[in-house]
Amino acid sequence: MFNSKFGSVPKFYVRAPGRVNIIGEHIDYCGYSVLPMAVEQDMLIAVEPVKTHVLQLANTNPLYLDFSTSANNIQIDKTKPLWHNYFLCGFKGIQEHFGLSDVTGMNCLVDGNIPPSSGLSSSSALVCCAGLVTLTVLGMNLSKVELAEICAKSEHYIGTEGGGMDQSISFLAEEGTAKLIEFSPLRATDVKLPSGAVFVIANSCVEMNKAATSHFNIRVMECRLAAKLLAKHKCLPWEEVLRLEEVQAKLGVSLEEMLLITEDALHSEPYSPEEICRCLGISLQELKTQILSPSTQDVLSFKLYQRAKHVYSEAARVLQFKKVCEEAPDNTVQLLGELMNQSHVSCRDMYECSCPELDQLVDICRKFGAQGSRLTGAGWGGCTVSIVPADKLPSFLANVHEAYYQRSNRSLVPEKQSLFATKPGGGALVFLEA
Ligand code: GLA
Repeated sequence: MFNSKFGSVPKFYVRAPGRVNIIGEHIDYCGYSVLPMAVEQDMLIAVEPVKTHVLQLANTNPLYLDFSTSANNIQIDKTKPLWHNYFLCGFKGIQEHFGLSDVTGMNCLVDGNIPPSSGLSSSSALVCCAGLVTLTVLGMNLSKVELAEICAKSEHYIGTEGGGMDQSISFLAEEGTAKLIEFSPLRATDVKLPSGAVFVIANSCVEMNKAATSHFNIRVMECRLAAKLLAKHKCLPWEEVLRLEEVQAKLGVSLEEMLLITEDALHSEPYSPEEICRCLGISLQELKTQILSPSTQDVLSFKLYQRAKHVYSEAARVLQFKKVCEEAPDNTVQLLGELMNQSHVSCRDMYECSCPELDQLVDICRKFGAQGSRLTGAGWGGCTVSIVPADKLPSFLANVHEAYYQRSNRSLVPEKQSLFATKPGGGALVFLEA
């Protein structure tokens, strides 16, 4: 296909994997550690550098149209999350990192098998893959940590203010192990998953493109506002506080204490922008220009108590999950399952990032043998991840397939992309022709 598109052969190939987040949802952008693993599905790009300064992008999937632009004038349209914009994010991130104004062009053919808009991070995999393609074409070097940080930042060009989990695991993943990803500074530590259990991904078949709605950015802002109100309540310099983790660090208290402080400082009724202004002692104008992001300017109600409760409790569950994996007690799988179930309840009730289909799928998974099941990724659709005792896997897959997919025509989606067992895969790689 590369040959028929561009009339030449690729010089090298790059792959970057998607991921499944096992636990730790919507807390990376609050500064807290998360626990994902790479899946084997990935983005793969065939590349030929050219001398013309033109970037030509094609996709093996005919749904994604060809695109071409000058390599020195990258425009990313935030209003439309078109596929090629994710490539441009990675490209622009590297270009800007090295301060290059005159970049060589290239022909790229993109192929991918990560189900899109399903919470498995197909978009970040494309950003990371494009970043590594660009670095390779330029003949430059960066560490995986630097690459992850650049790509996490440059994905914001698409308009969503995600944390760094997806890009970090795409670069730092290693086959056979999940990772605890910590931020500021970015670090990845191996977490050995129990051998007696399998992690199964099930797609709710409800598509959720987080760049196409404002849910995601509203949550990011609610967490920021909650952090500021908590800091103000505790007489900390709230102006400089952006993340819920910073409040905890500045107070030097445990996550459990942060939950108590949240109950004391915030109320469960939603906050209006006016009330937030009163609490912080600022004008509506100041709130809009100094704190709210472009996509949250017109939001009329913010749930601060619920979001902070989710974040602090979820951050604690991540640490407990890692501890259980390390200590491996007799009932490891059951304990991990309970933490995953609690995570789902918190995502559903406190963070409100689930949907009826995800809740139904989680129930079905538990009914047919999962010790724990939860939504994974941003939510509002996409996939669940379940922990299933290895000996129950065949009956689990058959029963969930029947109960969720066959009964509702959802089997129209190719079965392999909808329900599959997965294990920790490796990170991004460059393949050079021999
Ligand atoms: C998206 C973001 C991540 C993370 C998850 C939710 O995948 O890109 O940074 O916030 O949602 O956990």
